[in-house]
Amino acid sequence: MNRDQKVRWGILGCGKIAHKFAHDLLLNDNAELVACASRDKEKSKAFAEKYQAKLSFDSYEDLANCLEVDVVYVATPNSHHKEHSILCLRNKKAVLCEKPLSTSQSDVEEMMQVARENNVFLMEAMWTSFLPNILSIENSIQNGTIGEVIHLSADFAFTTDFNPKSRLFDAALGGGSLLDIGIYPLFMSVLFLGKPKKIQASLRNSPSGVDAACSVLLTYQDEKTATLFSSFETSTDIKCEIYGTEGRIVIPNRFHEQSEHTILIPGKSNQLIQSERKGFGYFYEIEHVNECLYNGCKESPRMPLKLSLDLIEIMDAIRNSSS
Ligand SMILES: NC(=O)c1ccc[n+]([C@@H]2O[C@H](COP(=O)([O-])OP(=O)(O)OC[C@H]3O[C@@H](n4cnc5c(N)ncnc54)[C@H](OP(=O)(O)O)[C@@H]3O)[C@@H](O)[C@H]2O)c1
Repeated sequence: MNRDQKVRWGILGCGKIAHKFAHDLLLNDNAELVACASRDKEKSKAFAEKYQAKLSFDSYEDLANCLEVDVVYVATPNSHHKEHSILCLRNKKAVLCEKPLSTSQSDVEEMMQVARENNVFLMEAMWTSFLPNILSIENSIQNGTIGEVIHLSADFAFTTDFNPKSRLFDAALGGGSLLDIGIYPLFMSVLFLGKPKKIQASLRNSPSGVDAACSVLLTYQDEKTATLFSSFETSTDIKCEIYGTEGRIVIPNRFHEQSEHTILIPGKSNQLIQSERKGFGYFYEIEHVNECLYNGCKESPRMPLKLSLDLIEIMDAIRNSSS
């Protein structure tokens, strides 16, 4: 793609997260929201008006076929990520698909295959990975600030009433705490410790059969560990702590979107590090996708498809380990 032109975005599915994403897209100088698509014509029109998109469609197919769009952000329920991403990929559209990339390893493998066959860009929208706060933490760890990382703990929980029709609890929509929010603690463990050698988990099922809560113990080479928790039945601090041989790093409440962290080294004053956060935080993944497309990448070097495959493979194993 030519850097003189803005990257032309389309949004598929005009639900809750699509609104926040569109807000951040407008903050990006290299991006332009050209089109959106909803199953509901009026909803699509209203969304397009609100975020200054030129085109609004009442069918996802029309968006996938639109010649004025370079990249589509797929913001539908987990159960539909594969179908909607493949629809766009087959129409030669680059795709940024919401997390989790899909609900099973075999689905993700199929999506990767279609992206490769069509020679188009595909990335999971794991926006946390692109936040300046996370990049700063990674940098500190690589510089040995807390020594060798030997343990990580992370939680993400909030209380919500059971509703079998909500995408959080409906198995047909890919519900469950692990896929919806547990993926963030898991992502942190994979980012800082890699792929575990042993996975132990316990899931508390909701009446609809998907997990309402999920506790995980991951064990790595040299018996390093991660403990992860997600739940719709209680609330937690939504905190991530990374423990090293020389100290630890604490990312406070809503770690997945935080702009600050504290480095605690025994015998030294605690150090609060603050970073920039534009908009809701989706700004940075959008900027990264633009850069990938300008560079002609078919995968993100930061969030490669192998990483998405590792995440879903672990989540499949977690769900199987408890059954
Ligand atoms: N990155 C983040 O921070 C973040 C936060 C929340 C959610 N998410 C992810 O974003 C995705 C969407 O979540 P959301 O909270 O935005 O959900 P939502 O408000 O329910 O929106 C999902 C949209 O998908 C479309 N859709 C297509 N087929 C559907 C079906 N069979 N049932 C329901 N909706 C259908 C609908 O759009 P139309 O009616 O316009 O066609 C709907 O508005 C999920 O994958 C979730 O994991 C990410």
